Amino acid sequence: MTDTLYPEITEDAVHRMSEAPNARLREVMAVVVRHLHDAVREARISEAEWETAIRFLTKTGQKCDAERQEFILLSDVLGVSMLVDALNHEGGDGITESTVFGPFYSGQQRVVPFGASILLRPEDAEPLVMSGRVLSADGTPVAGAIIEVWQTAPNGLYDVQDPDQPKGHLRATLEADQDGAYAFETILPVSYAIPDDGPVGQLLHGLGRHPNRPAHIHFMISATGYQRLVTHLFVEGDPYLESDAVFGVKPSLIVAPVDDGSGRLKIERDFGLSVNEAVESGD
Ligand SMILES: [Fe+2]
Repeated sequence: MTDTLYPEITEDAVHRMSEAPNARLREVMAVVVRHLHDAVREARISEAEWETAIRFLTKTGQKCDAERQEFILLSDVLGVSMLVDALNHEGGDGITESTVFGPFYSGQQRVVPFGASILLRPEDAEPLVMSGRVLSADGTPVAGAIIEVWQTAPNGLYDVQDPDQPKGHLRATLEADQDGAYAFETILPVSYAIPDDGPVGQLLHGLGRHPNRPAHIHFMISATGYQRLVTHLFVEGDPYLESDAVFGVKPSLIVAPVDDGSGRLKIERDFGLSVNEAVESGD
């Protein structure tokens, strides 16, 4: 345990917020300031190191633009995104586990009919049919649930990262039918490296970590009266399942593609949504 050096500086910084009109802001910032001061004390940060940290955060912000979100990457690779996710989604019987949102959702997506392909151009990759149902925890179908999906091309890049891909390639929005069923055609996802040409990549390399994520398809499922589910499905056997750069893998989200009988791969997977308590109680 490190002795508390200069406790009056921390107490003064915390006390200075005591008049903040927003009680939650006051509470959270007091915790942040105490922990940040303790981190500086415990690691005995030098002035040069603090300048390095500030330069790193500056570069992280400067790397962000409409299609690159370096701060989400930073949060992801430090495991903070998964911790926030864990604290806010307890799961339970019949409820699909959530995982990181990631930086590659790009807003409203084109709507495709039941069973359609989400590709906008052919790819030299293993075709895959993905289907299942959206259910409530007790197994009731959630008719009309909105299912948004996105994944990379075989080169490991999302359309928003790759000027050679048509915009909207390998991402789409579907609506579950009366039985809660959904289906779409895609390709088997591949493992990929998160963008490591920026400050977060430099940090990963400096820490002796690889930037790779196991193959996955992103899902975001919304329905009135239910909590929005943000999750992925991962492909069994991927070499990065144990060392996902963003800590997003949960065993319940790993699926194994099987032959659909005609030589094509398929994955059948249901999703369980949790009821939004605030809506149910009429709040
Ligand atoms: Fe992803």
